[in-house]
Amino acid sequence: NTALLYGSGYLTSLGTIPHLVDRHDLIFADRLIHACMLDGARLSKAKLIRFNHNDPVDLQHRLEHHPANGSRRLILTESLFSMDGDLAPLSEIAQIAIDQDAMLMVDEAHSMGVFGPAGSGRIREHSLQSATTLTMGTLSKSLAGYGGYVCGSELLRRYLVQTSRSFIYTTAPPPAQLGTALGALEILENEPDLGTRLLEKATHFRKALHSHGLDTLQSASQIIPVLIGDNHSTMQIAGTLKEQDILVGAIRPPTVPEGTARLRISLTLAHTDDDIYRAIRAIINAIQS
Ligand SMILES: Cc1ncc(COP(=O)(O)O)c(C=O)c1O
Repeated sequence: NTALLYGSGYLTSLGTIPHLVDRHDLIFADRLIHACMLDGARLSKAKLIRFNHNDPVDLQHRLEHHPANGSRRLILTESLFSMDGDLAPLSEIAQIAIDQDAMLMVDEAHSMGVFGPAGSGRIREHSLQSATTLTMGTLSKSLAGYGGYVCGSELLRRYLVQTSRSFIYTTAPPPAQLGTALGALEILENEPDLGTRLLEKATHFRKALHSHGLDTLQSASQIIPVLIGDNHSTMQIAGTLKEQDILVGAIRPPTVPEGTARLRISLTLAHTDDDIYRAIRAIINAIQS
C-alpha cells in the first residue's frame, strides 16, 4: 500500500472519487457520509444510491438490485461517523464489497490516531486493507495539522498522480504542515496507548451522561453527541455552556437529519478529569434547566 498527500481531506475526496467512477457507474453511499465524499460523488456524475446508515443488509439489498452490468460500483462509508460518533460495521461491508465485486472507499478522518495499532485506523485494526480499494483521511484531526491523504495500491497512486485535478492543480501542503503531521505520527508511534486512553475517557463520559437519562445515540468513540431534538433548545444549551467557557458544538439540520439537533462533544486527551467532571455537571444542569 502507498499513499498520496493532498491539500486537505476535502480536496482528497474531490480528487479521488471522480477518478474511480464516472457517469456510467454506480455509487452506494451510507446516508450519513461526510459532505466531502458526497461532493466527490456528485462531481463524478455516477448514479448515487444511498443505503441506510450502518446497515449492511440494506447495502447488500441495494447492490443486488443494481447489478454491475458492465459498470463499476463503488461503496462509500466513514469508519467513525463524524456527527454520531458511531462505528461502521467495516468487516461486514468489506465482505459485501468482495462478494459483490464492488470497490470500497473508507474515510478514516476521525478513527485515525485513535483506533488501530498506534492509531493507524480501523481498516488496519481489522486487517481489511486488501478488501479496501482506497482509504482516505485528514491530517487535521488527531494529527493537529492540515492536509489530506489517500492510501491504496501503487497502481492507483500512479493513476491519481496523472489524473487527479485537486492533486495536480493546487499547491501541495507546505513543509511546516508536514512537519507538524510527522511529529504527531512520531508521538503516536512512541505512545501507542493514546487512543485507548482517549476511548476510556469517552466511555466514562458517556456513562455519566446516561446515568442522567441523556441519549448519546450509538456513540462508541471520542465523538459524543447528546441528542436534544429541536434547534432552538440546542442553541440555547450550547450558549449557556459557552458562558461557562465550555465549547460544545450545536449541530443542526442540514448537517444532521431534521429533529435530531444535538450537542457534539469531541473529547481529547488534553481534557483533564476535572475538565470532564465540570463539563458533565454543566451539560446536565444546562439541559435540566
Ligand atoms: C469525516 C470527515 N472527512 C473529511 C473531512 C475533511 O477534512 P479536511 O478538514 O482536511 O478538509 C472532515 C472534516 O473536516 C470530516 O469530518
